[in-house]
Parts: sequence; C-alpha cells; structure tokens
Amino acid sequence: MKQAITLAELRAARAALPGPVGFVPTMGYLHAGHISLVEAAKKDCTSVVASIFVNPAQFGPNEDLAAYPRDLEGDLRKLESAGVDLIWLPTPEVIYPPGFDTWVEVQGVSQPLEGSSRPGHFRGVATVVAKLFNAVQPQRAYFGQKDAQQVAVLKQMVHDLNFAIELIVVPTKREADGLAMSSRNAYLAPPERAAAPVLHRALSAAKVAYDDGERSGDTLREIMRSTIATEPLARMQYVSCAHPRTLRELDTITEGALLSMAVYIGKTRLIDNVILD
Ligand code: PAJ
Repeated sequence: MKQAITLAELRAARAALPGPVGFVPTMGYLHAGHISLVEAAKKDCTSVVASIFVNPAQFGPNEDLAAYPRDLEGDLRKLESAGVDLIWLPTPEVIYPPGFDTWVEVQGVSQPLEGSSRPGHFRGVATVVAKLFNAVQPQRAYFGQKDAQQVAVLKQMVHDLNFAIELIVVPTKREADGLAMSSRNAYLAPPERAAAPVLHRALSAAKVAYDDGERSGDTLREIMRSTIATEPLARMQYVSCAHPRTLRELDTITEGALLSMAVYIGKTRLIDNVILD
C-alpha cells in the first residue's frame, strides 16, 4: 500500500494507478463499516484509493474535534489487509493552506435533520469531499447508507457541479444486536452500549408497520418516538419520515421513504436510518 501526504505525492501516486479507480474517503478510526466500503470498491474497481482526514470544517464549535478518536497504526493495517492500493493522509495545511477561501454549499437538502442540529456541518463535508474528489479523480466513490443525508447532499453536489464520478451507496454494517457501527460507539459506557440498540428497534418497529400497510408519516414518526421513550438512557433529538432525495417530511408515503433519527445516549449523539422500499 502506497502512502501519500502532500498533494504532489498524491497526484504522482494516483497517476500510476490503472483505472477504474474507486475512492473511499474516511475520517479514520476504522471499523468493519468502513472496510465494507473498501470491499465494495475492490469488487468494482481495478485500483482503490482511501483517505483519512479528520476534517475540522465539518465540526461545530461545540463538537470536540480534538477528542475525535484516532488510531493511525490500526487503520493502516486494516486498509492494507483489505487491499487498498494508495492511502492519502493529508494534514490540515494540505487541505486548508493559509488563504484558503472557497466553500461548497449545497442548499435545500443540507438544511433539515442533521443540518438543523449541526449548522455548517454539510458545508464542511461538501467542501472537503469536492477537494478530495478533485485531487484523487476517481471514477467511483463509496459512501455508507449510515449517513443518508450526507449521501443526499453529495449526490446533489456531484450533479450540480458536474463531477464525472459515480457515487455508490453501501448498506449500513451493524453489530449483532442491530446497533449501526460507528466510531462514536467507542464513547458509550457499558449501560449506554446496552441501551443503544433502541435506535434500530425504533426503526424496525416503524418498518414493520409500513410493511403491514401503514402509510401515514405521522403514525410512523410516532412509533419511532414512543419506542425511543421506552429507553431511560435515550433522549430523542429528532425522528423523521422523509422523501429519500429531498429529505422533506412526508404526510403520506407513496414511493418509499427514509426513516431516520438522532438520539442522545448519555452524552453521545447517535444517528441511524432505514429506507422503506
Ligand atoms: P466517517 O464518519 O469516517 O465515515 C466514512 C464513510 O464510512 C462514510 O461514507 C460513512 O457513511 C461510512 N460508514 C460509517 N459507518 C458505517 C457503517 N456502519 N456501515 C457502512 N458505512 C459506514 O463520513 C465521513 O467520515 C466524513 O463525513 C467524510 C465523508 C470522510 C468527509 O469528511
């Protein structure tokens, strides 16, 4: 596995890779969910590039960037054994050199849900992903369904800014009890970890109702809300039953919907979602 830090190193190593090239951007502290993106890329592509960059621009002033978990050695071992050809490890100065002054703002789809709880978050995500795309120039890029709104925002950006890159969405990888894998799960104390599968239980309860014929958005949101309320350690931030592309809340579900939620378990904020089809 080749390693690059500077833009010049990345470009030189990228130029030597046979295409099609698949790209997996990450913020590190890798788990099996991240590796499933690499595996999907390995299946489709001749070469696979990954990046690790904890992007300061997508953290809010009250979100602890410095405390974001890191394990570079473990990450490199996992990526190497998953068959990544080139790993890019840019420093903050490589991505945001002095004088950096251009931002990518995707409007409508960035606003609700995560956007309203985390102002500026998707501006940071869209900007860094645009920069990573321009540097790596992959044919395909792999993102997790786990972050459904991130996918919706990036699809809009790719379309609007004419990136010639196909976005591939990979299903959410879960623990045996249904908890979606996430770097943030490391923050959960044992009783909190035991409470955390309530997100998946709530989504599953609403999905069962949908499969039984329920089509009212209000009813599905209420099922999720009341399931979360059964768990004393859980505090709901939002539940949503929305159009999968625009993320507007639905009164009636006609053509599938995205059920999603953000829930605090103690101090840790978890998100999860499921697509109704
Ligand atoms: P990060 O949180 O490290 O996630 C990197 C990729 O892994 C994202 O596409 C995310 O959706 C995916 N992922 C996380 N958990 C997953 C799971 N349980 N199953 C499947 N995929 C999962 O998302 C980011 O980083 C950043 O916002 C980034 C896109 C790198 C831009 O900075």
